[in-house]
Amino acid sequence: MKVSIIGAGNVGSSCAEYISLKSIASEVILLDIKKGLAEGKALDLSQTSTTLGFNTRIIGATNDFSLTSNSDVVVITSGVPRKPGMTREELIGINAEIVKSVVDKILSNSPNTIIIVVSNPMDTMAYLALKVSGLSKNRIIGMGGALDSSRFKTYLSIAMNKPASDIQGMVIGGHGDTTMIPLTRLATYNGIPVSDFLSNQKLSEISNSTMVGGATLTKLLGTSAWYAPGASVSYLVDSILNDQKKIIPCSVFLDGEYGQKDICIGVPCVIGKNGIDSILEIELNKDETFKFNKSSEAVRKMNDALDKIL
Ligand code: 2OP
Repeated sequence: MKVSIIGAGNVGSSCAEYISLKSIASEVILLDIKKGLAEGKALDLSQTSTTLGFNTRIIGATNDFSLTSNSDVVVITSGVPRKPGMTREELIGINAEIVKSVVDKILSNSPNTIIIVVSNPMDTMAYLALKVSGLSKNRIIGMGGALDSSRFKTYLSIAMNKPASDIQGMVIGGHGDTTMIPLTRLATYNGIPVSDFLSNQKLSEISNSTMVGGATLTKLLGTSAWYAPGASVSYLVDSILNDQKKIIPCSVFLDGEYGQKDICIGVPCVIGKNGIDSILEIELNKDETFKFNKSSEAVRKMNDALDKIL
């Protein structure tokens, strides 16, 4: 199976690393516009294969999309990341043009591929990718919910002092500091509600930390995070290429689900060989529905900025 990653910055190379390390794909193509960057990272990463024990062939190239031909999955990480103090939304002008041109090039080489969008603002970029590509909605997946859920579960596991792999939880809504919705009510420690272990105040602190999870890291690192975003992409790619049908919150085009239309936003999805296999419509309570509608409004407003480009 072949996976191409567009953008060999921190996030793109981290995606390549986890996909190779976990032997999810037989071939990984890493592209960047900066001369030598993707080549260098691919070569460096390839040289870990003998010591780490994987056989994925990793090829890096400067902007040569012909190498991506017939990819099963293409991951778009292109664009600029946020700097400390910036919101994801502020990146829209620069990243929209980049994502649009990348989508065109991807599809002329891999017309049957599934596209995972990572570039920010992710919900708007997923919507843009869907509109400019004309692909069916199951083939465009925005990665944000997978990442936000992993941050949520990590904060829960730390607060409860329980193993991270025993925690279940989802974050839906937009991939933005004020638009994401950690579903605290449904989070569990091996099926036991987390509210049996943590006070309401602690749970609300965890929700808040999750929502600003990316901003916290941007402040610490001086640029946006890469390990957890790369791992989240690899988790999605694994579920697609191995048809695992995992439930992963992703930004997907809604056509009436959750009462929303013509928008890409995070909801629980079953991810398999066709990309979005189905959208799970779980029952939200009054507060969650209110937050979801508010989040949808904010994402929709952001999409308005695409008017000039669509
Ligand atoms: C983050 O939240 C990359 O948007 C991404 O770290």
